[in-house]
Amino acid sequence: MEFTKYTAHRQPVTIAVVGAGLRGREYARLAEQSGRGRVVAVAEPDPARRSAFQQAYGVERSSVFDGWAGLAAAPKIADVAIIATQDRQHADPAVRLAGLGYHLLLEKPMAPTEADARRITDAVEAAGVIGAVCHVLRYTNYTRALKQVIDEGRLGELINVQHLEPVGWWHQAHSFVRGNWRNSAESGPMLLTKSCHDLDWLAYLLGGAPASVASFGGLAHFHPGKKPDGAAARCLDCAVESTCPYSAKRLYLNCLDDDDLAEWPLPAVTPSRDRESVLRALRDGPYGRCVYDCDNDVVDNQVVAMQYPSGLTATFTMTAFTPMQRRQTRLFGSHGSVDGDGRFLRVTDFRTGRAETIDTGDPGEAGHDGGDGGLVDALLTAVTENDPGVLSSTMAASLASHRVVWAAEEARLTGTVVRL
Ligand SMILES: NC(=O)c1ccc[n+]([C@@H]2O[C@H](COP(=O)([O-])OP(=O)(O)OC[C@H]3O[C@@H](n4cnc5c(N)ncnc54)[C@H](O)[C@@H]3O)[C@@H](O)[C@H]2O)c1
Repeated sequence: MEFTKYTAHRQPVTIAVVGAGLRGREYARLAEQSGRGRVVAVAEPDPARRSAFQQAYGVERSSVFDGWAGLAAAPKIADVAIIATQDRQHADPAVRLAGLGYHLLLEKPMAPTEADARRITDAVEAAGVIGAVCHVLRYTNYTRALKQVIDEGRLGELINVQHLEPVGWWHQAHSFVRGNWRNSAESGPMLLTKSCHDLDWLAYLLGGAPASVASFGGLAHFHPGKKPDGAAARCLDCAVESTCPYSAKRLYLNCLDDDDLAEWPLPAVTPSRDRESVLRALRDGPYGRCVYDCDNDVVDNQVVAMQYPSGLTATFTMTAFTPMQRRQTRLFGSHGSVDGDGRFLRVTDFRTGRAETIDTGDPGEAGHDGGDGGLVDALLTAVTENDPGVLSSTMAASLASHRVVWAAEEARLTGTVVRL
């Protein structure tokens, strides 16, 4: 099916949100806040989330659906569909809504399998709509500044790269041991659900995918073999809870007194910010379970080694066992090096021996260091100006970087070097 690309328009871009969960709500908020986007439709099966969202944005009743299939069965009612359902529920709505002529903003990972990610990419291309994946790290000031340092040739020829994703001990426990991304059969391997951002970011900075990958890693700590003596199945019943770094009681009760933690991760645990609701959720829900007694199987540490067609080598480390920090990256070139911590870039010029520190700005509490806002801004510009070029995380670019993830995971599971 062939769709004519939208002509440029100055009206607010109209948006249908598919999945009014944490991410869907955040993109809706950012789009409305910009003054350039207007939320006009929602598809969400959870009645409480659906009605709160409908009221927040004054969505007309006729544009409220209890799932993406209802939206797809109706005539097209918005310029853009934001697909923010869970990982295994991306491909079908993406393909159907692209086919109806919606521009797509699609949460990562695109899909758990290459076949589904390819299906989405093909549908977007066939429909001639704009499509972007939420690889938000591409859209931060920090990334722009680092890419400029590389592209200006300040480092000479790049020889090696080291990149670290410090997940954070309690974030790992929340999302990848007790939470939505703990089990690869339900969501996907951690390299896909979390670190697809990192392998995508490296592809963006380094100008393409590696030629070969190897990978090692596993679940070192969060399993029954590491359960301390005296520990119970739930933190509320546990005799050693107070000495455990992963105490759910400590983590979630602390969220009540902290406005940032009340925004995330608390809403994943309970919709109400009060002690009784938290204790009820810890008594009955998944987030009160002992981290050594869950149905998790995703890794808590993984390394990936890559070689690029130019000969450049890169390593990536993902580990749970850190404070919550920004990603850290070191790039080593023939004429200079960079040490980046997510805000500051320390650039050393080997010709002068001098180091310059570039402050890319304090993103404060902005989502993903400003990447969420940067992505929404780029999407609205792309649709308003009919210029997909302002979006770097196209379906094709994202499919290419997802393929690195699948290759690395295959390398880890088979103990081989995989060539792409
Ligand atoms: N870009 C990022 O950095 C980033 C960060 C976190 C999460 N994510 C991804 O975003 C996606 C959503 O994550 P979340 O934390 O918002 O999850 P969530 O569970 O809070 O939200 C998903 C929503 O989809 C709804 N849903 C389920 N079936 C549906 C259907 N048939 N039609 C419409 N809606 C349906 C659920 O009821 C839920 O409200 C996931 O794929 C996740 O991996 C991306």
